[in-house]
Amino acid sequence: MSSKPALAHVAIIMDGNGRWAKQRKLPRTAGHKQGIKATREIVEASAEAGVKYLTLFAFSSENWKRPKAEISALMNLFIQSLQNEAQSLHEKGVRLKFLGHRNAFSDGLCQQIELAEELTCRNDKLFLNIAAGYGGRWDILQAVNHVIQDVLHDRLAASDINEDLFEKRLVTGDIPAPDLFIRTGGEQRISNFLLWQLAYTELYFCDTLWPDFDTDELKKAFESYRVRQRRFGLIQEQIA
Ligand code: FPP
Repeated sequence: MSSKPALAHVAIIMDGNGRWAKQRKLPRTAGHKQGIKATREIVEASAEAGVKYLTLFAFSSENWKRPKAEISALMNLFIQSLQNEAQSLHEKGVRLKFLGHRNAFSDGLCQQIELAEELTCRNDKLFLNIAAGYGGRWDILQAVNHVIQDVLHDRLAASDINEDLFEKRLVTGDIPAPDLFIRTGGEQRISNFLLWQLAYTELYFCDTLWPDFDTDELKKAFESYRVRQRRFGLIQEQIA
């Protein structure tokens, strides 16, 4: 599989684990476990296709409102995944970074995150961002707060604030905006994912539940992207 160079950054809402499990009369956790297998395949297929940045929405700020048992199962799965996968991701040249508010994570999870980020920090084949404890509104607000602090401490003049400067304060500040956004599982919304960053991203929605989303499904999303014309507010003649 190959992708145009322009498809540098893919962002995915991996939705449908719960329904996948329910269809099989299994506990929701079984869906999340299967979701991890799909994640492994999609990370490999993305690297293979030449994608440089892959951002996955693993746990939103709003997911904290789910039943306690599901949250705890998910947190354990994240810890286990990091323990099991960090070394092999490292060997494949993947740089792992977590985006989000870590305050509510257990010490054990924070420690695994730090170890994985440290282990992979010099890799550059694929930048794999895991959005966990993440919300787009939270991201914009934390950037606003950074800017305010910089102005208050005379590190920045208010008149110098512009879009380029502001987006550097977002948690994705050092990476380009997503070219393609994928949401599996049939819902057609952004659900507080990269709100600022998705302004000109091409959106792709499919009914496939995340545990069933495989390399062929990813290929379909890339094919859909390839025939789009990205105009960024310009007119067709200007693009040509
Ligand atoms: C959506 O399914 C998925 C999540 C809440 C996130 C969990 C994702 C995984 C476990 C995949 C692996 C990811 C990593 C980075 C280890 P849902 O529960 O919302 O499904 P539903 O809409 O069918 O209920």
